[in-house]
Amino acid sequence: MSDAGRLLRAHLLHQRTLGGTEVFVAPGTRDALLARVAALGSEPAREPAAASSGTGGARRRAGEGTPRGRASRPAPMPGPAPPTGELRRLAREGEAEEIAALPDLATLRAVSDACTRCALHESRTRPVFADGSPDARVMCVGEAPGQREDETGVPFVGRAGKLLDRLLLSAGLRRRDVFICNVLKCRPPGNRNPQPEEIERCSPFLRRQLDLVDPDVVVAFGTFAARTLLGTADSLGRMRGRVHEFRGRPTVVTYHPAALLRNPGWTRPTWEDLQRVRTLLDDGPPGEGHGGGAGGDDRNGGPGGDGG
Ligand code: URA
Repeated sequence: MSDAGRLLRAHLLHQRTLGGTEVFVAPGTRDALLARVAALGSEPAREPAAASSGTGGARRRAGEGTPRGRASRPAPMPGPAPPTGELRRLAREGEAEEIAALPDLATLRAVSDACTRCALHESRTRPVFADGSPDARVMCVGEAPGQREDETGVPFVGRAGKLLDRLLLSAGLRRRDVFICNVLKCRPPGNRNPQPEEIERCSPFLRRQLDLVDPDVVVAFGTFAARTLLGTADSLGRMRGRVHEFRGRPTVVTYHPAALLRNPGWTRPTWEDLQRVRTLLDDGPPGEGHGGGAGGDDRNGGPGGDGG
């Protein structure tokens, strides 16, 4: 079987795993779909992790690479590095403005990995900085690491993470194409909800990640991430179905994969949200008057949300 055939088969198997009997195929022509599948199969394999400057936006604006100026080969994620001197101080007591001034993802990660700015450092195994590509066009934001993530230091590696990978694939995106992180970098004990103080202490890292990666689209997975990014207390149902903005970037809200595992009936709306991401990538942000109003239902899509 050709690469394209294998990928199409994997895509259909993923959709079967997600539940339901419908097959979701992106609106558009057969040739556009085939081109997308073929492009997935022809991209190069990921390189081993190494330090990176993490200035994706600047590189893209310089016009390298594929359509819309992206490099065709995903840049590697910076690996862990122990902080020294001044960075140790920042990890302990850095002000938000100091974290906002860190020059690249490798330095930001070094500070995050040593962070003791809130009490979660006492119970964590290790912080979970991010995964994927520092040069990504899409930044995926979840809530906080769970047990598997706390053990491995990699976001979304448990069951919800596997589902996330499949959901991304339905929009023609692989894990290595996107930047994946969480609002909180450390696991709350027993997976309890993040506390406002923890969010406040951790948010400078998320904001700096966003600015350094400079994605074209942000995706908030679940109520908690969406509320944090958008600064609202709205339900997920009210936030879904339109394009928001987070720090100047088009932002799409969808269900958390953990909620989806418990509610396979939410697969179709999630798929639709990810097609919205695809459209933003392919066509750019909507003009004035677009993006409003499709609306979702009024259910809770956070990892702990079961519909209420
Ligand atoms: N849930 C999240 O929100 N983030 C993870 O990394 C894993 C599960």
